[in-house]
Amino acid sequence: MDVKQAYNLWAQQYDTNVNKTRDLEALALRTVLARIDFSSCLEIGCGTGKNTAWLITKARELMAVDLSEEMLQKAKEKIAADAVVFQQADITKAWQFTSKKWELISFSLVLEHIQDLEHIFSEASRKIAAGGYIYIGELHPFKQYTGSKARFDTEEGQQVVSCFNHHVTDFTGAAKKWGFEIADISEYFDDNDRNTIPRILSLLLKKS
Ligand SMILES: C[S@@+](CC[C@H](N)C(=O)[O-])C[C@H]1O[C@@H](n2cnc3c(N)ncnc32)[C@H](O)[C@@H]1O
Repeated sequence: MDVKQAYNLWAQQYDTNVNKTRDLEALALRTVLARIDFSSCLEIGCGTGKNTAWLITKARELMAVDLSEEMLQKAKEKIAADAVVFQQADITKAWQFTSKKWELISFSLVLEHIQDLEHIFSEASRKIAAGGYIYIGELHPFKQYTGSKARFDTEEGQQVVSCFNHHVTDFTGAAKKWGFEIADISEYFDDNDRNTIPRILSLLLKKS
């Protein structure tokens, strides 16, 4: 299913569905970003604001961007902070939604919906402050190889959102090409059981 159409539908139940990937990524983001300071954050694919409320406890200003008006509406209902600006935009197009350079750009569970990582890194590298960070938290590629995809149930049946597989080296290769060093790479497992396939891959990249 088309990504925007899917999330406009999913928004009504995104926060209440059982969703291990959503919840484990929340843990990953908080664990990784607790270790760094940032005063400004461009949150890409903010969805219903799962991470926005936490990010604004660390940043003085935050722009939360999403393709889906319905996901954004849910986030706006939760987050009233003046320091947060919500913006509807498609990140596969030119990033005209901001002219600012940000200390942190975060991507949580969004890049699996984006085919062309080069475009994303190219735009992000123009919008990052010197010494700034990119955080990426994604469904682990190993999990994708087993066929796992973003999906949800409706009365019409199960809806599978359009997804693309990105290998670990697709992320690390793009990071290197666009002038980022790997500050951290971590894997998160269901029930912290390292004998299982990891569910979440996180990367913290620093602009060199
Ligand atoms: C799985 S949700 C993740 C939401 C939130 N970051 C979280 O972790 O709960 C993916 C989000 O990415 C957004 N998204 C997908 N493609 C996008 C695009 N091209 N531009 C902007 N946002 C996009 C969707 O609308 C959706 O809200």
